[in-house]
Amino acid sequence: MTNVIPKEILKIYHRLEKQGFQAYFVGGSVRDLLLKRKVKDWDLTTNATPEELLKVFPDGFYDNQFGTVGVPLKIEDKEEVIEITTFRTEQSYTPTHKPEKVTWGKTLDDDLSRRDFTINAIALRIGEKNVFELIDPYDGEKDLKKKIIKAVGDPSLRFKEDALRLLRAIRIATELGFTIDKDTWEKIVEDAPLIKHISAERIKIELLRVLASENPYDGIMLLKNCGLLEQILPELLKGIGISQARPGRHHKDDVFTHNLLSLKFCPSKDPVVRFATLLHDIGKPEVSAKDKQGLVTFHNHEVAGARMVEKICDRLKFSRKEKEKVIMLIRWHMFSVNENQTDAAIRRFIRKIGVENVKDMMDLRVADRLGGGTQTAESWRLKLFKEKIEEQLKPAPFSINDLVIDGNDVIKILNIKPGPIIGKILNEIFAEVDEDLSKNNRKFLDQRVRELGQNLIE
Ligand code: CTP
Repeated sequence: MTNVIPKEILKIYHRLEKQGFQAYFVGGSVRDLLLKRKVKDWDLTTNATPEELLKVFPDGFYDNQFGTVGVPLKIEDKEEVIEITTFRTEQSYTPTHKPEKVTWGKTLDDDLSRRDFTINAIALRIGEKNVFELIDPYDGEKDLKKKIIKAVGDPSLRFKEDALRLLRAIRIATELGFTIDKDTWEKIVEDAPLIKHISAERIKIELLRVLASENPYDGIMLLKNCGLLEQILPELLKGIGISQARPGRHHKDDVFTHNLLSLKFCPSKDPVVRFATLLHDIGKPEVSAKDKQGLVTFHNHEVAGARMVEKICDRLKFSRKEKEKVIMLIRWHMFSVNENQTDAAIRRFIRKIGVENVKDMMDLRVADRLGGGTQTAESWRLKLFKEKIEEQLKPAPFSINDLVIDGNDVIKILNIKPGPIIGKILNEIFAEVDEDLSKNNRKFLDQRVRELGQNLIE
């Protein structure tokens, strides 16, 4: 198991031990090692204080209040940082994860007892000849095998220490396909409102990780069922009970269910595209009305939705680029795939949404169809529309503008005044180059312009 730990990381580990300090791998790295998943970060915990760590690793940097020293290193030519954290206990904590006073713990058990979930509270020590030992006072390995997320000790205390853990429980359960222990779940439901103490930046990271997972639909359902969705994306819940049923239409579910099912069927793996898919019909409740026959309508819901989602993205501190993409996808998701559209209309559509967004927009349409109960991902019209888009996206055929020389070059080469002769020469060489594109080089064309010029001027 330990043979997957990069040797550069092991070197740092052994350097600490050689200096007489205790060192353990902890957290996500041990969890993922035991699960045979790819380890993202190798976190170490130690009894060395930050000051002592900086003496052992002079190129390390210490820049926060949590006692973490980052040590830069290179793994396969890639710059990485290993985080080494001093055993700690926190006192007078608040749910915002801003302990008023951090004190360094004396023992590994102090440290493990303050970690969030049992599966994240397993420590790994590497001994002689890489023989390893697990220190697992909270039976994390057993919970890993049972696929259970369970708080270390009293869940309520763990959530009050840092309310982000409420969301982490859902995110980790979703990513790993685990279930949440009953007691821990009940406390999440009870403490869900505490999430409002957590910064939008941290919430956004967890939310996008839920969306990027293999089971984003299950993750969002968990968030709804425990009450966290109401805190994070209350707008989404407004779709509950808003019927979309119209005779002859596929839609049978309410707006909320349709938004979620669309996410479930979204072909894109990009969490931002999935976010837009989840929110694509968020404007419907606001504009819902009845037509003359008493049937529901949602005119301009994409305009209302785009407006709403701009505020949501600002609230969740999405980057400008991400926000613009989400707004664009929602604003134009009702695009027509009418088979009678001209090529120019197709080109206008591409320009409006941006070439780089075409695939994501098509993915949203497929998600919307499947999430609306349609059996096939693509109608013949959508297929045809995609083909027409492909056609328009193909590189334009070689034209006179693609020659490596232009009229100004001809004027300079022949030292003549502008006149119809320029166009004649360009057309002539274009015809030659069009037959053999390798001729489109400066040296050859220079020569040809001189020859043609001589003939034409004589
Ligand atoms: N931790 C915690 N409470 C938090 C955040 C982190 O107790 N709010 C502890 C957990 O033991 C966690 C470790 O710090 O395993 C490292 O945290 P982090 O790197 O944020 O997450 P990982 O659990 O490593 O998960 P992942 O690698 O999937 O991000």
